[in-house]
Amino acid sequence: MTINRRTLLKRSALLAAALATTKQNAIAKALEQTGLKDLYKNDFYIGTAIGNARLNNPPAGFNALVAREFNAMTMENDMKWERVHPEPEKWVWDHADKFMALGEQHGMYMVGHVLVWHSQTPRWVFNDDAGQPLSREALLARMKSHIDTLAGRYRGRVHAWDVVNEAVDEDKGWRKSPWFNQIGPDFVDHAFRYAREAAPEAHLLYNDYNMHNPGKREFVVDMIKRLKKNGVSIDGVGMQGHVGLEYPDIAEFEKSIEAFAAEGVAVHITELDLDMLPVAWDHIGAEISDSFEYSDELNPYPNGLPADMEEKLAARYAEWFKLFLKHRDKIARVTFWGTGDSESWKNDFPVTGRTNYPLLFDRDYQRKPAYHAVAALKK
Ligand code: XIL
Repeated sequence: MTINRRTLLKRSALLAAALATTKQNAIAKALEQTGLKDLYKNDFYIGTAIGNARLNNPPAGFNALVAREFNAMTMENDMKWERVHPEPEKWVWDHADKFMALGEQHGMYMVGHVLVWHSQTPRWVFNDDAGQPLSREALLARMKSHIDTLAGRYRGRVHAWDVVNEAVDEDKGWRKSPWFNQIGPDFVDHAFRYAREAAPEAHLLYNDYNMHNPGKREFVVDMIKRLKKNGVSIDGVGMQGHVGLEYPDIAEFEKSIEAFAAEGVAVHITELDLDMLPVAWDHIGAEISDSFEYSDELNPYPNGLPADMEEKLAARYAEWFKLFLKHRDKIARVTFWGTGDSESWKNDFPVTGRTNYPLLFDRDYQRKPAYHAVAALKK
């Protein structure tokens, strides 16, 4: 049978269509495999915080998603003093070691969180055997040995350490933590010196929340100046970034990015999430000791976020990333405080038992409109 011209044309058209579909599928597949880390590869690291539950019992596909989307990892809780060093002679390394192995398997920028903090730090740290507050010298020695052991264990492997967390009390100056009360303001200097000795190559950060607050901004700028004057090296400032739809004022946040960068340190956005629930009283910080009683009014979306709120979340995330891109020369990393909404601490802080939507992936680890808004800035 001879093939007439018409059949031939039809066949090649079909073939062309099939090829086009294959190509489109290939492009779609490639895009599907392209994560935020690839889109932002010339701008800054894109990180996530990993909690214990996901580390030890990851939902199906979780590790693959993390490897696809992120190139930086922070351990959410298990390098904190109470977890890693719960008793004077007891160290618990399982989780931190596993976290390091997972990150290194994927060539991640590894962030250690945290060496010196007042929260999630056991009481015994500050007291002697008789329960009396340790002297300045004894507490400094304890701090040094903790930093030596923890930062020393991961020397050359943790790329950035949150050396000191939350030493500033909003506009009131130094937070009156046991570190400050028992050592004095130079506890920060010592922490950075000890960290530098234990982890010479690591990027050393001061980390805090509400960094848009002008009082905090000035205080931290002065702290950096003083550290440098005293010959203490600090590489960066961590702006946590626990933000909401209405707060903070992005212009104030921007002023802080600029002010820190002007001191010659890098800016890391260390704990980004966007609270979608009503503000409990005037709560806009990340003061861990705050908590408020649950009420249904404070938990308006237990069964899903309405479309208009989903759009607001996406638009607000796009605003934040526009700001970060504008300052990509100053920003080394943007890390989300978790991956999917179900795992966020924001479901329980500052009110326990709510259903929050602060991240870019939903409870089934699907990309949300907010994800696409952030990705679209780079497409
Ligand atoms: C939070 C964790 O996400 C929670 O799981 C834990 O119960 C409390 O701490 N600032 C920080 C982080 O520096 O360590 C905190 O992480 C969130 C606020």
